[in-house]
Amino acid sequence: TKKSVKKAVIPAAGLGTRFLPITKSQPKEMIPVVDKPTIQYVVEEAVVSGIHDILVITGRGKRAIEDHFDRSFELESILKKKNDYIALAELEEIAKLADIHYIRQKVAAGLGHAVLCAEKHIGDNPFAVLLGDAITLSDNPCTKALIKAYNKLGSSVVAVERVPMQEVKKYGIIQAEKVGEHLYRVTDLVEKPSPKEAPSDLAMLGRYVLTPGIFKALSKTEPGLGGELQLTDALKLLLKKEQIYAFEVTGPRYDIGNKLSWIKATVELALMNEEFGSELRAYLKKLLGD
Ligand code: UTP
Repeated sequence: TKKSVKKAVIPAAGLGTRFLPITKSQPKEMIPVVDKPTIQYVVEEAVVSGIHDILVITGRGKRAIEDHFDRSFELESILKKKNDYIALAELEEIAKLADIHYIRQKVAAGLGHAVLCAEKHIGDNPFAVLLGDAITLSDNPCTKALIKAYNKLGSSVVAVERVPMQEVKKYGIIQAEKVGEHLYRVTDLVEKPSPKEAPSDLAMLGRYVLTPGIFKALSKTEPGLGGELQLTDALKLLLKKEQIYAFEVTGPRYDIGNKLSWIKATVELALMNEEFGSELRAYLKKLLGD
């Protein structure tokens, strides 16, 4: 019998050098988008996808993440005194979202290394990986779609989207054969290729469902690009043993580690906001002169 996906790993230990200076003393994953830190959107995506056991990979200077998902008795008692039950409920909701565990990656040695830190917690089970600095927006949550595909295929499934050819160097790119609607069978992978080397324009966007076979592959993978242990290289090794599929998502996704992408996420989500979305729309129109 096939095991189901019950756990998720959220790597959040990176240094965030592309978003300096804010990331000097703030975890990148705590950068707010409208009124929530980025990582809360990520945890909520895991929860709506049916996952309630989450392991966050943290590191030095990342303690604000743990505080955010913890209870804050002082704040709660002040809100109670003020009879602000709406804010209170919201606060309690955050602390109840999921069973969140933390482990520290002692050196930021790459995304692959961060995932390998989860081996003990995950054991011999399939699991989801959601990058702590990437937000996906869709009526059909990305991780939920990957889990559905995993349940059907019994193999690892990575989420991909098409990117402009001049941007392939920012991503892990797959080579693949189309086998169904939105579905591909992966035949090769390469981390941050030049447009010339890239086997396609299908880029991995930071959502994965992986079989536990990835741990063995990771432990055999040598440091790659930038001296970091790359998840893409481990997937390439896993591909020698197991099939890997890719699921093409269409909804927008934002890499919060990139300043422009963060601004876009903020504007797009703010425009959807019930309280001030329409006012913002009017303001932007005026600012840009229609
Ligand atoms: P990035 O590729 O954006 O790397 O990580 P980074 O180091 O955080 O940022 P830059 O490139 O210096 O600006 C993608 C996700 O993987 C996590 C990050 O926290 C982020 O959520 N990560 C990355 C780790 O957990 N550990 C690592 O060693 C590297």
